[in-house]
Amino acid sequence: MLIFEAGQAGCSILLPYAIKQIMDGVAAAQASQQAIWPQLEPALWLFGWLNLGIVLFSRASGAILVMLGPAMRRKVRRELFAYLQHHSQRYFLTHFAGSLANRISETSMSVSHALWSLMFDFWPLIISFSVSLILLFNVHTDLAMTLAIWTGIYVLISFLLALRCRIYAKKYAAARSLVSGKVVDSVTNIMNAKLFARREYERAYLDDFLDLEVNSARKTYWYMERIRWFQFIAAMLLMFGVVGHALLIWSENCMTTGEFAMAASISLLLIEQARSLTRRFLELFEYVGNVNDGVARIIKPHEIPDSLNAPGLQIEKAKIQFDKVSFAYNQGKPVFKQLNLNINSGDKIGLVGFSGSGKSTLLNLMLRLFEPQSGRILIDDQNINLVNQESLRDSIAMIPQDPMLFHRSLMENIRYGRLEASDEEVIAAAQKAHAHEFILETEDGYESLVGERGVKLSGGQRQRIALARAILKNAPILLLDEATSSLDSVTEKHIQDSLAQLMENKTVLVIAHRLSTLSRMDRILVFHQGEIIEQGNHQQLLESGGHYAQMWRMQAGGFLQDTADVVEKWTD
Ligand SMILES: Nc1ncnc2c1ncn2[C@@H]1O[C@H](COP(=O)(O)OP(=O)(O)O)[C@@H](O)[C@H]1O
Ligand SMILES: [Mg+2]
Repeated sequence: MLIFEAGQAGCSILLPYAIKQIMDGVAAAQASQQAIWPQLEPALWLFGWLNLGIVLFSRASGAILVMLGPAMRRKVRRELFAYLQHHSQRYFLTHFAGSLANRISETSMSVSHALWSLMFDFWPLIISFSVSLILLFNVHTDLAMTLAIWTGIYVLISFLLALRCRIYAKKYAAARSLVSGKVVDSVTNIMNAKLFARREYERAYLDDFLDLEVNSARKTYWYMERIRWFQFIAAMLLMFGVVGHALLIWSENCMTTGEFAMAASISLLLIEQARSLTRRFLELFEYVGNVNDGVARIIKPHEIPDSLNAPGLQIEKAKIQFDKVSFAYNQGKPVFKQLNLNINSGDKIGLVGFSGSGKSTLLNLMLRLFEPQSGRILIDDQNINLVNQESLRDSIAMIPQDPMLFHRSLMENIRYGRLEASDEEVIAAAQKAHAHEFILETEDGYESLVGERGVKLSGGQRQRIALARAILKNAPILLLDEATSSLDSVTEKHIQDSLAQLMENKTVLVIAHRLSTLSRMDRILVFHQGEIIEQGNHQQLLESGGHYAQMWRMQAGGFLQDTADVVEKWTD
């Protein structure tokens, strides 16, 4: 493209030279009274070739652009996304999905724009100026010097003006994104605006930010207007300078009419191209700035990288150990201090405790979504920090409290647990999770889409989809974080059998608020502020009469009927 663009710019700026040859030919023919055509022939050929060259060079470069432009954008997007995927949970908690997606597309756009701007704006301009200077030097040194000095000053001032204008343009861009942020927030909370009858208020609220945007837009445009004054006056001066200077030289008979015409048309062409130089600088700065922002936001070092050639996790028994694990999300607020925990292969462990006591955090650490500040977590005697993360998460099936679904069909959402599962296997898993019934009732059955994050399903329905997913995945370690909390007790009871089946031959950790869910566990750990204050099976804990027994009494009092049933079913 560099070559083709140079070819096109060269041909365009050589046209005044061809015109000079033609005019000089005509003048010579008139003076010598000879036939005009033989004299003109070489000049006409040159003129023809140059025009053809412009067409061919520009279209060749256009063809490359069509081939490479979209592919390059794809490459940038794909690589940014691939890099983004390896960021930690912590990163995604502080950066919003919408703004990251936006960053990726803006960065890829800006990479292309910046390159194209260099390729199609600046590069041809350099060629044009160089060729013009050479042409003019051949005619007259002083004339060329006029152009060279003008160019130097013009480029410098354009650059400086663009630098200053960038400050305004940045403020304007910030105001624009502030407004879109406010609109998004208002739209997201449209329900609030409706419920509180605040539509008028929301519009007025937005108006303030819109005014802000208008003001900064005006400031930017006024500054650009001032730049245009400079450009138009500079162009006028160049025109007067070159034409006047050329006239002067011509009047002293040091220049032919053709050369004069060439000098004038070269300045016309250059002015045309140079006029937009400040704007182009400005755009280039903006693109480069965008790329910078995107890179600064996305291409940060990964927080939890795999070490080079990290081996895969080898699971035989799925035995889990926490060895003096200390962890804090934020410095100074430790969740775990020197936590020790041994879970034998095939153990079914229940975790209970007040909310905020660190139960979910324990599962997060096992999944290596966060890393402990000190201590080790071992699975089958392998430190999970030293194995590769994909293999770790491949070995663990997790059902979170509030599972998210893709905006894809239910079939695809369940199959996510094991991509190569057949339709029959997916349906069998859905039946076990008691999702099959409600799926058939939806409009398109297994092909139904579930809305962003699964909003078109109820919490309990989403949990059942997540359960079906975990059943398909069938990993040796199973983690349930209040996975049945949104189910009514009847549905939960139905699901218990499938869960029990799923838990067979697996190491299982279950967090539950409804203590009845846990009574079948081998061991129950009672958490309080990151420490295990009691442990034992349901019966032992009840007999010891500690925290657990107290919680059990309170719940049993609250949902007497409910739990009594469930316990009955379990104990028989
Ligand atoms: N991403 C996070 N960043 C900072 N603090 C967190 C984060 N997640 C949880 N916490 C804090 O860690 C503590 C333990 O939380 P969690 O493990 O979710 O409790 P539980 O699941 O037992 O209700 C709480 O004090 C909570 O506020
Ligand atoms: Mg929790």
